[in-house]
Amino acid sequence: MTKFYLTTAIDYANGAPHIGHAYEKIQTDVLARHFRQRYDDVYFLSGTDEHGIKIQKTAAAQGITPQELCDINTAKFEECWKGLDISYNQFIRTTNKDHEAIVQKIFKKLQDNCDIYKHSYTGLYCSGCESFLNPRDLTEDGLCPDHLKKPEEVKEENYFFKLSKYKDRIIEHIKKNPDFIQPEFRANEVINQLEHIEDISVSRSKDSVSWGIPVLGDDSQIIYVWIDALSNYITALGYDPENPSEKFNRYWPADVQVIGKDILKFHAIYWPAFLMALDLPLPKTIFAHGWITIDQTKMSKSIGNVIAPKDVLDSFCLEQADAFRYFMMVTAPAGRDGNYSDLDFKERINADLANNIGNLLNRTLNMQVKYFDGEIKPEFITSSDNEIAKAALETVNLVKSRFDKFEVAEAAQEIVNFANTVNKYVNDTAPWSLAKEEKMDECAKVLYTVLESMRFIGALLAPYCPNIAQDIYEQLNRSEKAVDVKLDSLKWGEIPAGKITEKSKIKPVFLRVDSEIAGASKKG
Ligand code: MSP
Repeated sequence: MTKFYLTTAIDYANGAPHIGHAYEKIQTDVLARHFRQRYDDVYFLSGTDEHGIKIQKTAAAQGITPQELCDINTAKFEECWKGLDISYNQFIRTTNKDHEAIVQKIFKKLQDNCDIYKHSYTGLYCSGCESFLNPRDLTEDGLCPDHLKKPEEVKEENYFFKLSKYKDRIIEHIKKNPDFIQPEFRANEVINQLEHIEDISVSRSKDSVSWGIPVLGDDSQIIYVWIDALSNYITALGYDPENPSEKFNRYWPADVQVIGKDILKFHAIYWPAFLMALDLPLPKTIFAHGWITIDQTKMSKSIGNVIAPKDVLDSFCLEQADAFRYFMMVTAPAGRDGNYSDLDFKERINADLANNIGNLLNRTLNMQVKYFDGEIKPEFITSSDNEIAKAALETVNLVKSRFDKFEVAEAAQEIVNFANTVNKYVNDTAPWSLAKEEKMDECAKVLYTVLESMRFIGALLAPYCPNIAQDIYEQLNRSEKAVDVKLDSLKWGEIPAGKITEKSKIKPVFLRVDSEIAGASKKG
């Protein structure tokens, strides 16, 4: 049995989810759904990060306890992911008691191994990053480059982790394993950061941060968020330094950990060092995605341009998340920044989902009914040596190899390219003219070829648009679920002879979002 374990970053529970958080969860979900079409045992973890000064401060400002704040916000994340069809197998919260107990044990193990020592320290703390910053990394005005806020000067006695001890091993690992940091162009950035790496603070005094996991045997110190947060990837599986669970042994190391480019340092430097110190294998790939901007501007509360996924669905009267999922996945090449605008959204989904894919199926089924009463005769089943069949099988391989590199947008483009090829084939062969000229055999073969192509497109599209793909499968009278199709067993010529459809059953699988009918039918 091939296992595949993939994770997302866990979102801070100090606010509600926005489309940037959604981008990452959808991307990981599309990967999970694709790999489920190839491997037997895919395990997908997501969750929320619930400790730290930011959450403590937000809760205080709202007059509620940090736990209440986390409960309220985590419920919003879970509801949002449900609405977006995110199919994680497990959702971890770092306030979960089992997680807290294991994090304490992990910290203790690092102490016992002399990887952690106590040290008096003055540093610049950015609560946005929940991290100390190096003065070298600040902007000219002394601000955190990511949050554009002045970090707070903190003078404390903290526990420190000997990160510098692992520097050479991590550099060597990155150089020897080109798959470790993806996309590859990010690896140099990490190696440069490693050149200047120093030991890091891994605890805060309880007087300055009280909302967190206390150090075992030293209640005056709180384990600071990154050991706590990063450990979620193994505590969720039941890791225990003394007695790792069967589930942990089965799934660890992760096959891919999907995160945003802003937290690459924590995942490509701190995380490997913690794992080395615990004597655990490193994840196979850390994939850093880019950031989503809105109309080319960074999303921020102060600008007031933060968009929630539901805002997009509501403004286009969409009941299902497919179109939003699709757009988010094609808006940026792998690892690069992407942008959301209402106009781009509308244009892209109308072009790809309504016109290219939706219309292709719709007009072909209509012709099948008009010319053949919805009936496929055995002699019309085309063999796999025609150009379109070859292109269909080739597209499966292209999509698979794109996914092997976590190139989700590029894989979608392969599907669209194939749909373009099939559209061109329909226009070139003109089955309506063939029917007029009474070349019915030729006409039937063209239609069969298109319907078979749609079966391939439905299966390949299912990770992005599970509902639309399912509609395609139902319109093709398939009994299997599009999401369950195993890509390696996709063969040409499997739509059987017999009646495939009738007039009353043909419905568009995706309506243009700006057409009146779309608004009316979705609303009503
Ligand atoms: N809690 C930490 C992660 C700990 S992982 C062990 C954190 N949380 S976060 O809520 O700030 O961000 C969660 C994820 O969302 C990160 O991977 C981050 O890059 C991603 N995004 C947040 N805003 C984003 C965009 N505007 N665009 C794309 N992804 C963005 O960091």
